[in-house]
Amino acid sequence: MTSTSNIQSVQSESAVYAPSSHFAKAMPSLHVPDMATYEKLHTQALNNPENFWGDIAKEFHWYKPWNTVLEWNCPDAKWFSGGTTNACFNAVDRLVANGQGDDVAILWEGEPAGDNGDTPEIRKITYKELQNEVSRVANTLKRMGVRKGDVVTLYMGMVPELAFAVLACARIGAPHSVIFGGFAASAIVDRVHDAKSKVIVTCDGAWRRGSIVPLKENVDKACEQLPEVKNIVVLKRVGNSINMKSGRDQWWHDAVAKETTSCACEEMEAEELLFLLYTSGSTGKPKGIRHTTGGYMIYTAHTAKLTFNLLPRAGQIFWCTADIGWITGHSYVIYGILANGVTTFMYEGAPNAPKEDRFWRIVQRHKITHFHTAPTAIRAFMKWGDALPAAHDLSSVKLLGSVGEPINPEAWMWYREKIGGDCCPIMDTFWQTESGGHLITPLPGCTPMKPGSCTLPFPGVDAAIVDEQGNELPANSGGLLVIRKPWPGMLRGIHGDRERYIETYWGKIPGMYLAGDGARRDGDGFFWIMGRIDDVLNVSGHRLGTAEVESSLVGSKLVVEAAVVGMPHEIKGTGIAAFCVPHPDYAHAADDALRQKLMLHVTNDIGAIARPDMIRFTTGLPKTRSGKIMRRLLRDVAAGKETTQDVTTLEDFNVLAKLRESDE
Ligand code: WTA
Repeated sequence: MTSTSNIQSVQSESAVYAPSSHFAKAMPSLHVPDMATYEKLHTQALNNPENFWGDIAKEFHWYKPWNTVLEWNCPDAKWFSGGTTNACFNAVDRLVANGQGDDVAILWEGEPAGDNGDTPEIRKITYKELQNEVSRVANTLKRMGVRKGDVVTLYMGMVPELAFAVLACARIGAPHSVIFGGFAASAIVDRVHDAKSKVIVTCDGAWRRGSIVPLKENVDKACEQLPEVKNIVVLKRVGNSINMKSGRDQWWHDAVAKETTSCACEEMEAEELLFLLYTSGSTGKPKGIRHTTGGYMIYTAHTAKLTFNLLPRAGQIFWCTADIGWITGHSYVIYGILANGVTTFMYEGAPNAPKEDRFWRIVQRHKITHFHTAPTAIRAFMKWGDALPAAHDLSSVKLLGSVGEPINPEAWMWYREKIGGDCCPIMDTFWQTESGGHLITPLPGCTPMKPGSCTLPFPGVDAAIVDEQGNELPANSGGLLVIRKPWPGMLRGIHGDRERYIETYWGKIPGMYLAGDGARRDGDGFFWIMGRIDDVLNVSGHRLGTAEVESSLVGSKLVVEAAVVGMPHEIKGTGIAAFCVPHPDYAHAADDALRQKLMLHVTNDIGAIARPDMIRFTTGLPKTRSGKIMRRLLRDVAAGKETTQDVTTLEDFNVLAKLRESDE
């Protein structure tokens, strides 16, 4: 073990951790063993992306080779044009063909367990079994009339069948649209409608901290507004009583069991749609991010391989705690990990079910080697106390991952010391739904680490900090994070909205991809993410648009106007603060009861993750003379700070004074 003597200062950004020699010793080999190799790869990839990515793509299975590696006509990228392949084949069948059929592909643990969190249900699915199960589901979908190009919606808990369904869709060329099980009915309506999806796969319910999330009931509620949905397949998981509509609904165990285990993979053009994943933007409804087959597959597999130093048949058990409903679950629970022939571990439920040490029990029980989670979870673990991880044997862990939001140095230090035995490298991976895979991240055993910095671009990613005109800024100046060259995993558009695609990502600084984050580079070229520059909130590492929460609040009819901003939150990173003007009928009783009603409304409408942490009632919102809500000012109020804002354009100064007066 290394000691803490290599920390220069935890508080200051100059704290540097040498790349872990402990990690290097624990691995049979390192894909990128040192910084000189990293520099060489990065330069090669930037100078000649065609050769670089072409060589990587050759490691995968193609029915037909590509004609050109990259056709770039900003903002449209085509990767591996002319080539045909299948993402399911590459994540499953290829491994079976390579002799990994009996290796465990998915290791799963259910939430319900004894009083101590012991004796849970455990399932092990080998690559061969995965191939069989996926084929059965694929045949079920085909029998229901699903054809190549038809979008299938998946709204399930974290059960192996969700992974089967994802891969089954990929197998037959039906793009999947996974909806996070924590979202409520209205989120399903918007997404199913936008994707024109006619088939939904769901569960009767999902386990979450000992209670049941009524998934099928939510689907039924959504379907009242979705006459276009023709088929619903329901996996029985929790045994709650649900309605089954005859002619539309069928049980998984009836429909899937009778299918055969043979189903050929559909030959897909590299640029054909693999999936849609809806994510929040700064305005309006969530946007359907389009990811295509060849580029996404290569990019997730390659980033997973390098960032986590994945090696097949080396006893690695990779646990990424993200839900499959988010991009992290798509890329680093399913595609990227399986494609490397490594066991992916899935856990069904909450970290504190039945007690707050559940994760550490799991790590010990399954000898997890790679543990990957979000800073918000780490902050919760810190609060729950050091004694919990200390009581378990975590020595199997060789690498830690962090994703979804900036990690504060205190959390980084705690993570390294208490979970990583003071020696594991921490991969702070910066990326987005739109990027498909990692953009900026250390590589283990290679990149020096600074707590709170996501360090350096992944080889081939041309990340830079620029001003609003696109000029690169000198070291330590805050600016806009852009990517100046295409990469294989990049989004190919927003479903059904080309204008929004161009305008959001490429229009502001022509020729460059605008990530939507503010950041700076330090003197060593390391990146420090400062947070979103748009009206996207990052609550517990989950993306939410302020506009979505505002429209839900106003939709309650209890308030006439609402403005939502982020505020600092000890555990969640960012909490949700809502400033509301009550409807005249309720103005006299703008009290705690109304606050509770609003919170419940948002929970039922969008989901618990969107529930405001603070609601303040006000008679008016601070606006500029042209009627724009002054959000930055509200952010200061929510944070309890004196504003540094120029308020000369504020229409009514009294509003500001009143906002400060109104208590929570
Ligand atoms: C934020 C999640 C700092 C960022 C993979 C980004 C991060 C948004 C990090 C994307 C990180 C993600 N450090 N910030 N390591 N990772 N973010 O689409 O603001 O759910 O733009 O993808 O999360 O969130 P999304």
